Amino acid sequence: MATQAFAAATPDTPFYRPQGRETEVFRHAHRNQLPVLIKGPTGCGKTRFVEHMAAELGRPLYTVACHDDLSAADLVGRHLIGDGATYWSDGPLTRAVREGGICYLDEVVEARKDTTVVLHPLSDDRRILPIDRTGETLQAPPEFMLVVSYNPGYQNLLKGMKTSTRQRFVGLRFNFPEPAAERDIVVTETGLDAERADQLVELANRMRRLEDHDIEEAASTRLVVHAATLIRDGFDPVAACENALVEPLSDDTETLDGLMEVVHAVLGD
Ligand SMILES: Nc1ncnc2c1ncn2[C@@H]1O[C@H](COP(=O)(O)OP(=O)(O)O)[C@@H](O)[C@H]1O
Ligand SMILES: [Mg+2]
Repeated sequence: MATQAFAAATPDTPFYRPQGRETEVFRHAHRNQLPVLIKGPTGCGKTRFVEHMAAELGRPLYTVACHDDLSAADLVGRHLIGDGATYWSDGPLTRAVREGGICYLDEVVEARKDTTVVLHPLSDDRRILPIDRTGETLQAPPEFMLVVSYNPGYQNLLKGMKTSTRQRFVGLRFNFPEPAAERDIVVTETGLDAERADQLVELANRMRRLEDHDIEEAASTRLVVHAATLIRDGFDPVAACENALVEPLSDDTETLDGLMEVVHAVLGD
């Protein structure tokens, strides 16, 4: 299998198929204590990449899925009450700093603006985390790394990442993999035969080229892997594509019919 050359996957290192020089960039950034920003559509491998790099570098990974209610306290920590007494509980960012780990903030533009107050001093050369509530200021060890990601397609103008924040990061732009790479991913992830995997990748690429207003997000590698998983498990290929690759993209029946035509055209049954 051609995939083995890229896999570098040990039992503890999740498989990641690079798209370009991103693994090299990440290693240099980590070694030089620079934070990294990853942009890209959903399901294109951002999370897998960070998991792979954390394992390769042997650092604990703290992943936070950001949402519009996520506050600085959710990242840093808070006082909790238990057994009639209050005690301090570290948030994921604080833990990553203490342990020299990697803190990965997924969809960072969703987070509340007060989070930038803690991210700024950590992402420039001070590398400190002031914890107001306890009066402590942590100096991040050299192994600590901050990684953030967002999907440029989702953002509205108000939410875009502030220039003063983004200019602190080394930036990586991800997209869906090249067909040969995406086939390797599908084969390695699911064990589907290469021929069928090629077909699914071809299908996904044709679907991505369709310009339909009702499709907000293109068919992702994640969805291709899901379809492949169902087929590998013995499910009917056309139905697998309908359920795993088509239905998640839209609720509009005309759009769905259009997508199913592409499925029939590519799978030929
Ligand atoms: N480059 C890649 N190498 C290995 N697997 C990948 C890659 N890109 C996508 N995948 C597959 O797609 C799935 C979704 O990727 P994920 O990293 O969760 O996407 P994102 O975080 O960008 O939304 C993964 O679980 C994996 O099966
Ligand atoms: Mg993700």
